[in-house]
Amino acid sequence: MSRHNGGMSTTHFGFQTVDEREKARKVRGVFDAVASRYDLMNDVMSGGLHRVWKAYTLTVANVRPDDQVLDIAGGTGDLSLGLAARIGPGGLVCHTDINETMLREGRTRLLDKGMALPTLVCDAEHLPFPDERFDLVTVAFGLRNMTHKDRALAEMARVLKPGGRLLVLEFSRVAEPLRPAYDWYSFQVLPRLGAWFANDEASYRYLAESIRMHPDQEALRALIKANGFGHVDVHNLTAGVVALHVGTKC
Ligand SMILES: C[S@@+](CC[C@H](N)C(=O)[O-])C[C@H]1O[C@@H](n2cnc3c(N)ncnc32)[C@H](O)[C@@H]1O
Repeated sequence: MSRHNGGMSTTHFGFQTVDEREKARKVRGVFDAVASRYDLMNDVMSGGLHRVWKAYTLTVANVRPDDQVLDIAGGTGDLSLGLAARIGPGGLVCHTDINETMLREGRTRLLDKGMALPTLVCDAEHLPFPDERFDLVTVAFGLRNMTHKDRALAEMARVLKPGGRLLVLEFSRVAEPLRPAYDWYSFQVLPRLGAWFANDEASYRYLAESIRMHPDQEALRALIKANGFGHVDVHNLTAGVVALHVGTKC
């Protein structure tokens, strides 16, 4: 959430307070740095669990053969790939991200798997699509990095058809008894894994910090509701390490 501080608007970048015009540039730096090792690191850091969380998201998405889907912050394309494989040639999946380096990694990967999808660089806060264009919008592990989450959510509501659904998969607040172990893992182990496997400790420290600064399950439910979604269900996964928010535009 951004704050006004005299003439300057500030926001969070991990635990740092930065001018909000700086945040997008810093986030771009993180994903430019991690893009080539992103898929490997996801498996290493989560012990493969991110595949289970994404598979669950695809099950909840329950797409039909003619569905029109927008995957925001699609990065290296896991959700786009799963959605397109389920929808088949009769529908549409747009694979989008603000970061060209991540998107290129994703597009190459999709093409290697025989999947040619429309791939677009776009900022979730200013979506280049008409109103009521899509049946489903997905965003996995992307919302946390956005400067104005409210604007991005309002844009997602705008491009959805009435009755359309938004799926937000994101790190969330872990159950209380697990917090000490989770904090130890996040701040002691994760940055070291970043250093060993990707030669990049700072990006993985940002990951741990940005998770702590992201709204918890109920705060995110309220934010989604306040930005165009009449109903929001929350599915806690792995004791709240991750949550899937399902918003309906109604
Ligand atoms: C952790 S990656 C997630 C990639 C993929 N969805 C996945 O689950 O593996 C986060 C992505 O969010 C993207 N992102 C950050 N801010 C964004 C914005 N304002 N609009 C669109 N994408 C954004 C980043 O470029 C990055 O590729």
